[in-house]
Amino acid sequence: MSSRFLNIFGGLTVAIVASLALLVMLYGGSPGPSQRDDALPYGGSFTMVNGHGRTVTERDFKDRPLVVFFGFTHCPDVCPTTLIEVADLMAQLGTDADRMTVLFVTVDPERDTPEVMREYAEAFDKRIVALTGSLEQVTAMAKAWGVYFKKVPTSGGDYTVDHTASVFLMDRKGGLRGTLDLHDRTAGVNLAKLRRFVR
Ligand code: NI
Repeated sequence: MSSRFLNIFGGLTVAIVASLALLVMLYGGSPGPSQRDDALPYGGSFTMVNGHGRTVTERDFKDRPLVVFFGFTHCPDVCPTTLIEVADLMAQLGTDADRMTVLFVTVDPERDTPEVMREYAEAFDKRIVALTGSLEQVTAMAKAWGVYFKKVPTSGGDYTVDHTASVFLMDRKGGLRGTLDLHDRTAGVNLAKLRRFVR
């Protein structure tokens, strides 16, 4: 073998080893969200307060398909629209809706006390579970779900909260199965998706 060939071969080996090392770093070094814990691949663990003022954690909803979305009761449009859509889907699912749990999580714990949250959520469907908590608890849960929220001052000393409006579907094993498409209200896609989801 010529030394020229050996140099090329050596260079290639270095490149391959470097690539493999990078792959290990990317996929093997730190566990991704789907490898963190068999029971909790997405969303992680949380400690929140339900509408009855009782502390609940992810263990209270174990082995249930979860429909999870974040919002707040003072939301002028997106949240009520989402809640109407979700409640409408639950009505169409009928008793099949009892096989899943819908969690409506506040991003405004300052105003959304357990009672305020319960009354608000139950006005749409009594089966919707309202969650609130301390700002720290809410922040931790939102972060684990990749949900952004930010308090924004409005005129008159009031405020609103910008937030991610996604409706997440998490299966019994804690895997993220997708989101509902809230711009597609009539085609029945969401209903079909939920029927498969609770099966
Ligand atoms: Ni909203």
